[in-house]
Amino acid sequence: MKTLFKNIKELIQIRDPEIKKVDGREMKELPSIKDAWLLIEDDKIVDFGSMESFPENNTAKIIDASGKLILPTWCDSHTHIVYAGNRELEFADRINGLSYEEIANRGGGILNSAKTLQETPEDEVYLQSSARLEEVMKLGTGAVEIKSGYGLTEEGELKMLRVIKKLQQHYDIPIKSTFLGAHAIPTEYQSDPEKYMDLVINEILPKVANQNLAEYIDIFCEKGYFSVEDTHKLLSAAKKYGMKPKIHVNQFHAIGGIKAGVEHKALSVDHLEVMTNEDIESLKNTETMPVALPSCSLFLSIPFTPARKILDAQLPIALATDFNPGSTPSGNMNLVLSLACIKMKMTPEEAINAATINGAYAMELSDVVGSITKGKKANLIMTKKIPSYTFLPYAFGSNNIDTVYINGKAID
Ligand code: NIG
Ligand code: FE
Repeated sequence: MKTLFKNIKELIQIRDPEIKKVDGREMKELPSIKDAWLLIEDDKIVDFGSMESFPENNTAKIIDASGKLILPTWCDSHTHIVYAGNRELEFADRINGLSYEEIANRGGGILNSAKTLQETPEDEVYLQSSARLEEVMKLGTGAVEIKSGYGLTEEGELKMLRVIKKLQQHYDIPIKSTFLGAHAIPTEYQSDPEKYMDLVINEILPKVANQNLAEYIDIFCEKGYFSVEDTHKLLSAAKKYGMKPKIHVNQFHAIGGIKAGVEHKALSVDHLEVMTNEDIESLKNTETMPVALPSCSLFLSIPFTPARKILDAQLPIALATDFNPGSTPSGNMNLVLSLACIKMKMTPEEAINAATINGAYAMELSDVVGSITKGKKANLIMTKKIPSYTFLPYAFGSNNIDTVYINGKAID
C-alpha cells in the first residue's frame, strides 16, 4: 500500500541515514523542504522531494497536505508509563507547602506508587498503562522507552517488566524496556540499604536478564536514594548481561553520577537539573546523550536543565517527558517542546532536534525513527494548518496535530 502526500507546506527534519544524533551547533539546523511531497509504502518512507519534481501518474493514494507540515513523530526516551494508580493527593500536599523530598521522607513518593503497584493485578496495570500509551501516541509520540521501578520487590519488578513486554507485543511503535529496580530503598531495607542493593544485583537482575525483560539498566543516583558507589556496582553487574546504562542523575544534587555513568559508557544520563562545570566536562568527547525532562521541572518547581550551558559546550541534548505518577504526570511531548523553548531557551530548531533524532539516539533507534529518511519507519506527525514549525512550541497548550501516522497508518 502506497500513500503520497502532496503540497506539504514544509517537510521537516530531513536527514541522511548516517546521522545518528546532532550536537551543539548542529542542533541549530533543522533541514527541511518547503512545498514538498512524501511517498510512503506500507510502514516505510520511500521517497520525498520538492513539488517541482512531483511524481505524476503514481498509483499511490494521494493525501493533500496543503497548509500542513509533516515531521517525524516524537521520540520519548525516558518514561515510567507503566504504573498503577496516581498520586494526586501528594500533589495537593505539595500545593499546601510540603516538598517532594518531604513527601518521600514520610513514606510517600516512589514508595507510595510501589505499594499501589504491588497491590494491583498485572492485567489491571496493563490496562492502565496501555491507556496512557495510547494517549501519548495520539499526542505524536512514535517511539518510547519505559522503565520499571515501582515494583521494588522481585515480584513487583518482574510484573512491571512483563507489562512492558506485553505493550511491546500489542503496539506498533518501538518500545524499549529499562530495569530500574534501584529506584528507591523500600522501607523494610532502610536500616540496611546494602541488603537491598544485594537483592537487586544478585537476585532480581539475573532474572530480568535471563527472561530477556530489559535492554537497559537504570538507577536513581541521588542523595537519599542510591550512591555513586551503588551506581558503579550495579552498572558493572548489568554490563555482564549486556545491559547498557540510562541513568537518573543530578536531579537535586550533583554527587558525581554523571562521571560514573560516562565511565560505564551510559547511552544517556537523564534529568541534569543541577549541573557543575565538572559534569559538563565529563560529558565531552563521549557517546553519552544528556537528556532533559522539562515537564518534571515544571511540575516540581525545580530548576530547568541548563540547556544553553550544555549546548554551548557543543554537547547534544535530547528531550523526554519522564511521564510518571509523582514528578511528571504528563506524557505530552508537545508541552515538553514548548517548555524547552520558553524555560530552557532552546530554539525551536534545537528543541525539535532534541525531541526527534536525539531522542531516537537515546534509545538506539536512530536507524529506525527520528527523521525523514528513506527506509525509516513512516511514523509521522501531520500538523493542522499552521504558519511554521515555530508555531508548535509557541502555541503551547494547543493541539496543533491533525493526524499521527504509525507505520504508515493514521491512528485515531
Ligand atoms: O524521574 N527521580 C526519580 N524518579 C522519577 C520520579 C518518580 C516518582 O516520584 O514517582 C523521576 O522524576
Ligand atoms: Fe524518571
